[in-house]
Amino acid sequence: MVGSLTVCAADEVAEGHAVMATTTAFGEDQPLIIVKWHGTIRAFRNWCPHMGTPLDWEPGKVWNYDRTQLMCATHGAVFEPDTGLCTRGPCRGQRLHGWQVDIVDGMIVVAAG
Ligand code: FES
Repeated sequence: MVGSLTVCAADEVAEGHAVMATTTAFGEDQPLIIVKWHGTIRAFRNWCPHMGTPLDWEPGKVWNYDRTQLMCATHGAVFEPDTGLCTRGPCRGQRLHGWQVDIVDGMIVVAAG
């Protein structure tokens, strides 16, 4: 079954920060990263395509030092925050799995995309 989740108010996600959430879909928990980049909110599965570990080095810490890319804490792969494309690291060319994001009455709703 494909799940959807109302995460929080859209204005609670600031540029360069992340909100973490978990929903259930495809028969298992799906940890999600919700980020805003250049005013657009995106949702990605918190699962690195290299070895399947979460990206965050501590809860919610998924940005690199200058907050321009998402970064995996395990081996340092970096990902574009708008597309999820890995541009550097051991999984270069692969992508974070993106989820569909809708803003409904000011709330962020994510669904498996
Ligand atoms: S597990 Fe993410 S870069 Fe290796």
